[in-house]
Amino acid sequence: MDVYEAVTSRRAVRGFTGRPVSREVLQRVLSAAAWAPSGSNLQPWHVYVVTGEPLAEIKRRAGARLAAGEPWDEREYEMYPATLKSPYQERRAAFGRERYSALGVTREDWEARQRAASGNWQCFGAPAALFCYVDRDLGRPQWSDLGMYLQTVMLLLRAEGLHSCPQMAWSVYRKTVAEILRPPEELILFCGMSIGSQDAAEQYIRTGRAPLDETVTFVGSR
Ligand SMILES: Cc1cc2nc3c(=O)[nH]c(=O)nc-3n(C[C@H](O)[C@H](O)[C@H](O)COP(=O)(O)O)c2cc1C
Repeated sequence: MDVYEAVTSRRAVRGFTGRPVSREVLQRVLSAAAWAPSGSNLQPWHVYVVTGEPLAEIKRRAGARLAAGEPWDEREYEMYPATLKSPYQERRAAFGRERYSALGVTREDWEARQRAASGNWQCFGAPAALFCYVDRDLGRPQWSDLGMYLQTVMLLLRAEGLHSCPQMAWSVYRKTVAEILRPPEELILFCGMSIGSQDAAEQYIRTGRAPLDETVTFVGSR
């Protein structure tokens, strides 16, 4: 698979089959992803790859919390600013419309939206997950390094015929994840990532993108 195909065929998949992902494939992907760039080669990512019983236990505990209506864990970072200005608010709204209309859920149907969101904490059925942490002493440039690393992982997964979904949603159940993974205190959970084979029955609308001239400015002669 060439890089363009890996980039354009990657999307946030929210329906996986239970088909296992082998340790060998995950090791190959993560060994190659280690070549992702980072400022001064700090390689600030701390990743736990979880499958089998430990992942099942995380899902069980998260599901139990959800069912009990337990509050989310207090945030260690803000996912988004409290008020999103233009054009981000419009893009977020467009994403919400795409995501929920594919499921036949209306904007007003809060319960159905919650049900759809709850799939996050079952990894949308995926048999493997990655939890990506960063040292709390590190700053914004290192958090951006995590993004490069995670995208590298997701593209390599495409090369293996696999799909993924990055999930900040796990940060609100970070204590449940920590009960199983026992990460050192100095680490913050940035996000989870579901990994597996796409379920052909998944209903989705491919997300759009802003026109190039909204996000890119070319300066200089052609
Ligand atoms: C850091 C990060 C966190 C995300 N968190 C979630 C999440 O918690 N749940 C979810 O369903 N999608 C999550 N997404 C997926 C985005 O919604 C998705 O990437 C975006 O809408 C673009 O769609 P696409 O990836 O399918 O092209 C996340 C993406 C990123 C990069």
